[in-house]
Amino acid sequence: MLMKKNNSQKHHVFANRDHGKGSALSFLDSEGADLKRLYKEADRIRHIHMGEEIYIRGIIEFSNICANDCLYCGIRASNHAVNRYSMTAEEIFSTAKAMVFRQQTTVVLQSGETPGIDDTEMGEIIRRIKKETPLAVTVSVGNRPYDTYRHWKDCGMDRYLLRFETSDPELFGRLHPDCTLEERLECLYALKELGVQTGSGFMIGLPGETVDTLAENILLCQKLDLDMIGIGPFIPHPETPLGGEKNAYEGNEEMFFKALAVLRIFNPDAHIPATTAYDAVFPGVGRNLALQRGANIFMPNDTPVGHRKDYLLYPGKPCVDESADQCASCVLMRIESLGRTIGKGHGHSIKNHRRNSEHGRHKHAG
Ligand code: 5AD
Ligand code: FES
Repeated sequence: MLMKKNNSQKHHVFANRDHGKGSALSFLDSEGADLKRLYKEADRIRHIHMGEEIYIRGIIEFSNICANDCLYCGIRASNHAVNRYSMTAEEIFSTAKAMVFRQQTTVVLQSGETPGIDDTEMGEIIRRIKKETPLAVTVSVGNRPYDTYRHWKDCGMDRYLLRFETSDPELFGRLHPDCTLEERLECLYALKELGVQTGSGFMIGLPGETVDTLAENILLCQKLDLDMIGIGPFIPHPETPLGGEKNAYEGNEEMFFKALAVLRIFNPDAHIPATTAYDAVFPGVGRNLALQRGANIFMPNDTPVGHRKDYLLYPGKPCVDESADQCASCVLMRIESLGRTIGKGHGHSIKNHRRNSEHGRHKHAG
């Protein structure tokens, strides 16, 4: 009897809290038994809303050519030590096709931000993958004009990933010589308006950020009502202007997981990947822990092995020497070891249905 009462009281600790900044800050401050409860609650909410299935989205880093100079990023234009590459349309297509046999149901096409691969060619690649494979297509190539996003949507693009990186406009400005936070958010609103499943997110521990910024980042994800949210620790890259800086939470790496757990509690029905950067900080276990503290998606690397070492956004990136097949079987092992199952089907946004029917209503009303 007593046990039961205690348990329900514990749930109320979370149930009675609003999802505002005060709660976010106090959750991020959890220690000891409170921290254990925070992780348990994040896992419980993930279970209730997203189930036990882990969806596998294979990522092809098809080009590291980038026109931008983001201060944190290893493939920024000014890093002349990078060996630049761009896969051909044929290579991208055959790499995507091979994913179907690895139980992967989504291909994520990611590259540096550049008009290097032109919008029309990109559209043709999307169209071909959609026509000749059963894969859902996610694109992640940075800020683009509305008409480009619309064209890609017409070609069959299902989803788009574009992190806002930080919700602090001043910090954003310092880190991105090529764009403002406002422009980045405009891109995200354009994608949402087009009915593309929209993913965004941020880095944890950028130099100059505070826990207050971190709470605001989580609240911005909530405000944007995102379909997918990817977050991960900032890792200084030696060949960048931030090479000599430290992660703002150095010595307090637990914060990376606290952020993830709070993110899940505040965004119960968003897809949240266990991102690669967690494994860079906690080799071999980071992504597994993320999956137990709120995440429900795994994004193995499908980039042809010869290119992987040239797509180092940060040092210590895992899977650089593994092949796509090795990563695919590693993922299956991890999922099994956690007692979870592989997602069947595309694992589209569970918010999408609602949004489409809202669109429908507006149309009729108009
Ligand atoms: N450390 C951690 N994450 C990084 N990214 C880029 N550079 C770094 C870094 N040094 C992340 C950004 C970007 C995503 C593709 O990789 O958040 O959106
Ligand atoms: Fe690449 Fe484990 S996911 S080796």
